[in-house]
Amino acid sequence: MRLDKFIASNGAFSRREASDAIRRGRVAVNGEPIRKPETPVDPDTDRISVDGEPFVFSRNVYYMLNKPSGYISSTEKGNTVISLLGEDGRRPGLFPCGRLDIDTEGLLLITDDGPLAHLLLSPRRHVEKEYFFICSPALTDGGIEMIGSGVDLGDFIAKPAKIASSRDRLSGTVTVTEGKFHQVKRMLSRAGSEVRYLKRIRFGPLTLDPDLAPGEFRPLTKDEISALMSAAEKEGKTL
Ligand code: URA
Repeated sequence: MRLDKFIASNGAFSRREASDAIRRGRVAVNGEPIRKPETPVDPDTDRISVDGEPFVFSRNVYYMLNKPSGYISSTEKGNTVISLLGEDGRRPGLFPCGRLDIDTEGLLLITDDGPLAHLLLSPRRHVEKEYFFICSPALTDGGIEMIGSGVDLGDFIAKPAKIASSRDRLSGTVTVTEGKFHQVKRMLSRAGSEVRYLKRIRFGPLTLDPDLAPGEFRPLTKDEISALMSAAEKEGKTL
């Protein structure tokens, strides 16, 4: 793995800050200052330090991925969200925290932290998931009211969702706290419209980074990881 990627891998430094720290001679590998960000290192065998302090590789990995359409939220072979991580990002045990449909884009947390994912996905945590949608035909007043007051989807009743629509009612945002299969598409369908495009723009305290193009990912920052940990602790509160 490249030295700059390694240094940026636990969220303490952005990739640019990592390169900068390396060029300034703040990073040593096996005791020798290394000034080339592209230097290959082996995190298992090389001793890496920053400003003389051993660099601690975070035990768990947390990535924000901007999922493109056409990829499945699975760890199996094929066009999976894990395949988007490439060689540098991939680690054993990584999985998507929750699922987005194959044609849904946007924020997907990828981690190897099973206990945290379990807490975040628990219905008791009420972690908010916010989506941008484009739909047709246009939503009606009745449809918007239905989504806002809870929709009976047959197998379960979706809780009241926050919905904001554009003036022409052909797009908007909807925020749900559950994560049932095709939930947003089914809610809009029951409300008399069809989702034509869906993108998750927020997952609890995490907002999709506008600098991530579809298919790109980055490690979460320390603040983002702490915010997720707090979200996981707060049972029963809407986050
Ligand atoms: N709701 C859906 O209908 N699809 C998704 O991918 C996520 C939420």
